[in-house]
Amino acid sequence: MIYDHPQAYELACSFRDVSAEVDALMTWGGAARDVLELAAGPAEHAREFARRGVAATALDLSPAMCAYARDRAAGLPLEVVQADMTGFRLDRRFDLVVTMLDSTAHLMTLEDFVAYLGCVREHLADGGLAVIEMSHPADRLGDTPRVSNAWSVDKDGLRARVRWGEPGDELDPITQVVKDHVTIAIDGGEVIQGVVPYRFWTATELTAAIRIAGGLAVQAQYGDFDPEVSLGSPHAWRMITLLRRTG
Ligand SMILES: C[S@@+](CC[C@H](N)C(=O)[O-])C[C@H]1O[C@@H](n2cnc3c(N)ncnc32)[C@H](O)[C@@H]1O
Repeated sequence: MIYDHPQAYELACSFRDVSAEVDALMTWGGAARDVLELAAGPAEHAREFARRGVAATALDLSPAMCAYARDRAAGLPLEVVQADMTGFRLDRRFDLVVTMLDSTAHLMTLEDFVAYLGCVREHLADGGLAVIEMSHPADRLGDTPRVSNAWSVDKDGLRARVRWGEPGDELDPITQVVKDHVTIAIDGGEVIQGVVPYRFWTATELTAAIRIAGGLAVQAQYGDFDPEVSLGSPHAWRMITLLRRTG
C-alpha cells in the first residue's frame, strides 16, 4: 500500500507549495487559533500551521502516516490522532478543519461522505470554517484533464518519478470508483508500487451530500488556492469548497 511509505508519498507530492497553500487557508480561516487536518497523511499542512504557532491536530487512518507525522513534527505543537474521518470524536472544536489533496476520494459511498461531513460539522467551532480540496470534475468529465497523472519531483537531493494511474485504469461508470495503479520510483533507490481505489465525486454530488449532512453551508468555491480562479475557470485545477457551520 502506497500509504505505508509516507516518506516516498511526501516526496511524490512535493510538487505542491504547502506554505502558499497554508497562506491561503489562513486568509480564508481568519484568525484561526486551532486547526484540524483530516486524512492528513504526513500532515504537511498541519505541520506548517504548527510552525506558524497555530495549535494543530492531524488525523489519519494509516498507522505509518501517523508515526511519520509525529516523527517529523518533533518540537512542534502538533497532536496526531489515528482515526477514521467518517467516525471520530475529539471532544473539542476547531476554528479551521481542512481536508487536502482529494482525500475525500477515499470515501467510497454517500453514507461515508455524509458521515465525514457530520464529523467535520461536530468539530467546527461557532463561526469556524471547513475547507475541502478535491480534484476538479473536469479531470473526469471534461475533454482534457486539468492535471497530469505522471510527473517528476526533486527535493532534498532526491528525485522521484511518479505515475498515479495507468492508461488501463478506468473509472467504473456505475460506482465511480477507479483503482489507480501507482508507481513512485526514487532514482537510485526504491520503486514503490500499489493500487489505490479512488471514488470520483461530482460537484453536484458534493452539494447533495452537504445538504443531507445538514448544519453546513457553502461559503465559496474556488478552482485553485488563488481565489481569483473560479471553479468554472479554464485555469481551475482543483475543486476547493469553503463551508461554514450553520445554526
Ligand atoms: C491522498 S493522501 C492525502 C494526504 C494529505 N491530505 C496530503 O495533502 O498530502 C490520502 C490520505 O487519506 C488517508 N485516509 C484514507 N481513508 C481515510 C479515512 N477513512 N479516515 C482517515 N484517513 C483516511 C490515507 O491514509 C492517506 O494518508
